[in-house]
Amino acid sequence: MTSPLAEVVRAEVAAAGPIPFARFMELALTHPLHGYYTAGPARATREGDFLTAPELHPIFGAALARQVHEAWERLGRPDPFVLREDGAGAGTLGLAIVAGLAADRSGLATALRYLPVELSRERRTECAERFAAAGLAGLLAASAGGEAPDPVRPFAGAVLANEYLDALPVHLVEVRAGALREVVVDVDGDGGFVERLAEPTTPALAARLDTLGIELVDGQRAEICLALAPWADSVAADLGCGLVLVLDYGREAPDLYDRRRMAGTLVTYRGHLADPSPDAPYRDVGERDITAHVDLTTVRALLAARGFPHLGTTTQAELLAGCGLEELLERERARAHDLQAALELRSSVGRLLDPRRLGGFRVLLAGRGIAAEPPLRGLAFRLPGWRG
Ligand SMILES: C[S@@+](CC[C@H](N)C(=O)[O-])C[C@H]1O[C@@H](n2cnc3c(N)ncnc32)[C@H](O)[C@@H]1O
Repeated sequence: MTSPLAEVVRAEVAAAGPIPFARFMELALTHPLHGYYTAGPARATREGDFLTAPELHPIFGAALARQVHEAWERLGRPDPFVLREDGAGAGTLGLAIVAGLAADRSGLATALRYLPVELSRERRTECAERFAAAGLAGLLAASAGGEAPDPVRPFAGAVLANEYLDALPVHLVEVRAGALREVVVDVDGDGGFVERLAEPTTPALAARLDTLGIELVDGQRAEICLALAPWADSVAADLGCGLVLVLDYGREAPDLYDRRRMAGTLVTYRGHLADPSPDAPYRDVGERDITAHVDLTTVRALLAARGFPHLGTTTQAELLAGCGLEELLERERARAHDLQAALELRSSVGRLLDPRRLGGFRVLLAGRGIAAEPPLRGLAFRLPGWRG
């Protein structure tokens, strides 16, 4: 409770009164000095709080490289082709994609310019250093030090977001006696954080539920991510034509807001332990990840409204299968020259495909200027119910 970030939150509440949970989450994750993602070590690592697919094994990036390559071909092989990665961390996925393209002898390997979008200055610097160390500095479309010029916008290319949208701040709402209420964060007499229910701070919350045709039941709590709209705006501003590829734990709105999920989907992570308890966000503020499932229905609608029609939705396991994971596994096996590497490869692929783990993540593809038929290779195995 005495972290510098907790002090920042207390000061803001003292000055402005109780703050929306979304503002609390924004401060906790992204405060410029003390935020979970801006301060401290890399979080998505074995030593950190959770492990993402790119950090698990480069075979994930090698498979995505094939999907990106296909999009490049369907666009008529533009050069340059800018790959913007949102929440790029230290560029692990970008490096694996570049390596995958080179291993496939794809012409995109030379046309690609990688544009990492990352909040943490440390991770941005690390990314630039890693590209330079790999002799790939020339592929960076922008760099932490500003040596590489920003790409001309709008560009032809792709926007990739792996486990990024779930990190955007969410408003928390609850229905009480038939009325929509919003969770705001207050400070009690002992300086501790307490939740209160208030009038919604913006009509956009009820409007989102209306648009989705969702009616929450009495006592139900839910998350609403208003930050999805500005994100979709930024995609549309950057991407003149190309592919949007979102990978995350997400659900369609009717499922996300189903009454089976009376407490919503908000969860915190610390030291690889998930904690969904209601007081968890208020413990170790700034040292704990806070995340919620992504509303895929809204992501799809926001992109479509900005000129990026839906190309398909599938699971990560199916996307990887469609991108030739089996064949990539053979290639990687031949390269794994010691037992440790071979075992790591095997266990990583198991986790990437396991439907209860990373394999069950949702993948949403949308695009402008990309033919939807025949289906993109990553959609070759999509479930019939997900067609649309
Ligand atoms: C869960 S991590 C995923 C990292 C990486 N995409 C991966 O899959 O390993 C979320 C990343 O998004 C970054 N991030 C969070 N909010 C951001 C924002 N508003 N703008 C840019 N990056 C942000 C974090 O710093 C972090 O690197």
